[in-house]
Amino acid sequence: MNILVCGGAGFIGSTFVRQRLHEHGDEVTVLDKLTYAGREQNFHDFADDPAFRFVHGAIEDPEAVASALDGLDGLDGLDGLDGVDGGNGGVRARASGPVEAIVNFAAETHVDRSIAEPDAFVKTHALGTYVLLEAARERDLRYVQVSTDEVYGSIEVGTFTESSPLQPSSPYSATKTGADLLVQSYFHTYGLPATIVRGSNNYGPYQYPEKLIPLMVLNALHGDALPVYGDGQQVRNWIHSTDFARAIGHVLAHGAPGEVYNAGGPDEQPNIDVVHRIIALTGASEDQIEHVTDRPGHDRRYSLSSEKVRALGWEPSVRFEDGLAETVTWYRENAWWWEPIRSGDYRSYYERQYGKALS
Ligand code: NAD
Ligand code: TYD
Repeated sequence: MNILVCGGAGFIGSTFVRQRLHEHGDEVTVLDKLTYAGREQNFHDFADDPAFRFVHGAIEDPEAVASALDGLDGLDGLDGLDGVDGGNGGVRARASGPVEAIVNFAAETHVDRSIAEPDAFVKTHALGTYVLLEAARERDLRYVQVSTDEVYGSIEVGTFTESSPLQPSSPYSATKTGADLLVQSYFHTYGLPATIVRGSNNYGPYQYPEKLIPLMVLNALHGDALPVYGDGQQVRNWIHSTDFARAIGHVLAHGAPGEVYNAGGPDEQPNIDVVHRIIALTGASEDQIEHVTDRPGHDRRYSLSSEKVRALGWEPSVRFEDGLAETVTWYRENAWWWEPIRSGDYRSYYERQYGKALS
């Protein structure tokens, strides 16, 4: 296939691009704004692939979207990667036919940042999704919206299905819900062949260290405090990013237009247990755990039923225990990836958020 992947410079988007290039032989254009979370380093092992093309731009910018779908028009491409071998030397024309599908990962993704500064969340999720839907409608493209279990809100007991009510609680999840509803309206109103995939909490290589698992792994390795919000008994349903990316590919190939598919991981864990596992894997000390002020409006538990996507032939392959150990090893062995983050703007973000400096 020939696919436009929006937000493909981020954690899950770049994992998806890697799979499409290496496992499916697809042609992929990435359109990405390169926010703090979008990184050219995430292209390090496929930047030279002739089937890969990068366009630097925002999904809320119709010109950037048209350029990524139709042609070049002078947008910046990949001019060589800082500190990474390769780089395809600028924007290239597509090698073959037109784009057939848009897969939209582009988003602001951190709940804590959405509480502190919600404006970018509204713009990217509402306006950005609208611009992409219009572009898909004009060109008759398939469309996949990457979404989250957080649109259902919190569940104490049981598990969410695709028909559970939408009850988002943070500016992040509320704006993601708005985007999902807009996508569904384009199916109902215009017949756009659109699908939505809602994932549970992802973990794995290339995840920006503001999120629980990479934050705790890097802090553990550096001897920094491990900041657990509240009592640490909040439960998350963990899915490895390669499993979630494959679920999205599965829905792209086999999903029915207008349908929503949940893709949850095989294991649920309270946060405090995740932190204990990370301590054991890194050799850190239990004394590093620090219970800090809870997140406002903190969702207690997420849990997804994935029967519908399983019926399409997908199932998760990575158990949390194995995936977490492999992820810790990846962060240990890939300091080139996280060192520029941990020594850059992330330090001031961390100080603002946690009221203390990283070592
Ligand atoms: P990420 O923060 O690592 O990456 C987001 C990417 O989107 C970045 O490359 C960023 O530069 C890009 N981006 C942001 N705003 C943009 C804009 N306006 N125009 C173009 N590009 C823009 O996020 P992620 O964890 O890889 O999440 C990807 C998608 O998966 C998101 O839609 C998120 O809601 C969804 N999701 C994430 C999780 C998770 O646990 N991380 C779970 C379920 C669903
Ligand atoms: P996070 O990775 O931000 O994902 P989400 O909020 O989308 O679930 O957080 C996962 C869980 O970990 C969530 O319950 C909040 C908690 N958490 C902490 O206890 N401490 C931290 O420093 C962070 C970042 C998260």
